[in-house]
Amino acid sequence: MATTSASEALVGLPGVRKRVFWALGLGAFGLAFSLTTTAAYLPPLLHRFTSSGGLIGVILGAEGIFALTISPVIGPWSDGFHTPLGRRRPFMLVAVFPMGFCLLLMPFMPNLWTTVVIVMSFFFAYYLYETPYRGLYPDVLPPQTFGRSQSVQHIQRGIAIGIALVGGGLLFKVWRPAPFVLAAPSGEAEIFLATQLVDEARHAAFFDRFMAEVMALDGEDIRGRLAEMEQLMLPAWRTVFDDHLRETARRLLARPDDLDLFVEGIVTYHVVIEGVLAMTGQHQILKYLEAHDIYPGFCRGFSLVEQDEHRHIAFGVRFLKDACDAEPRYRAVIERKIAELVPVACHVFVPPGTEDPGDFMSYDYHSSEIYGFAYRALKRRMAVVGVEVPPAEELMPGPIAAPAIPHGAAAVAAQEMAPAP
Ligand SMILES: [Fe+2]
Ligand SMILES: [Fe+2]
Repeated sequence: MATTSASEALVGLPGVRKRVFWALGLGAFGLAFSLTTTAAYLPPLLHRFTSSGGLIGVILGAEGIFALTISPVIGPWSDGFHTPLGRRRPFMLVAVFPMGFCLLLMPFMPNLWTTVVIVMSFFFAYYLYETPYRGLYPDVLPPQTFGRSQSVQHIQRGIAIGIALVGGGLLFKVWRPAPFVLAAPSGEAEIFLATQLVDEARHAAFFDRFMAEVMALDGEDIRGRLAEMEQLMLPAWRTVFDDHLRETARRLLARPDDLDLFVEGIVTYHVVIEGVLAMTGQHQILKYLEAHDIYPGFCRGFSLVEQDEHRHIAFGVRFLKDACDAEPRYRAVIERKIAELVPVACHVFVPPGTEDPGDFMSYDYHSSEIYGFAYRALKRRMAVVGVEVPPAEELMPGPIAAPAIPHGAAAVAAQEMAPAP
């Protein structure tokens, strides 16, 4: 064994460079990061598949079995394992990639049992790495540096735990608003929905600017102003957005593989909220603003929002058509959701204080024109999907008017070009 002179200790152990301590500590960094991430975020991931706290406890507790069975085998084995790479590094090299791979895969597993297989593989790789890693310290460092090496190791461990808890928490928050992306049944749908999420974020920023600069709301920031707007919402808004959309999103987070639920979600979001409510409201408000020549900047921005919404609705219709072509039973799921939601949702068009939801004026339009526009658009889109919508009397809160008849030469041209009934 090497001896250390007192003078060597006094000049800061010139035999070992500082970066060796930090390089060795990286192992502890990786171990602490991966184990903290697993301990903190595996329970909510497993809750997607099971409500049994006992079962989740058993899965997490399995780590102890790996610690008890693998370490006593691998430790002594690595003591006598002489290779050009040393005694410990071959074990660590074999374990490090599966460990990282399993950690990356964990959040994307489709069901409980695949998650369990990945978690168990992770624990196996973890202990295959950990025991030789501990043995590496006395192999490469002189004993008089052990204390110092442990202090460096603990600094890196602390940083890793902090990153795992804060960074992991942020990722979880980012994930929450995207339940539709998370539950998308195909890569194509996933990519489209990711672009839609970005569109909706831009729309929110656009409307927020209007709320802040034109409506002069008191809220300090976008959340404050949204909370202020929420106070003004009518009960129909709450039913559609809180009871239906948020509830569907919450259930999708818990059951991302439930395709029936995903189809219901697309009907709620793309067909009813965007197709029936947003498109009708946007059309009506834009026509009103143009006719009265007000807010030209807002009109320009709102028209661009309208273009995005057309794209979103087209995706929803196409998705539902493909789903029904593959499984015709989805037509009944869609019909049921439309019959349940549209009659409630259309009360969003009714201005506060209106006595008769079947007879009112809003932005220069009579209720029958608004309901007519919304109903015809829905019927047209659902015809593409192959779904028969219930008659207007059942869906709309009031009578619907026929489309406005064009005048003069335009009318003649339109009649000539119209396909035979
Ligand atoms: Fe939008
Ligand atoms: Fe949208």
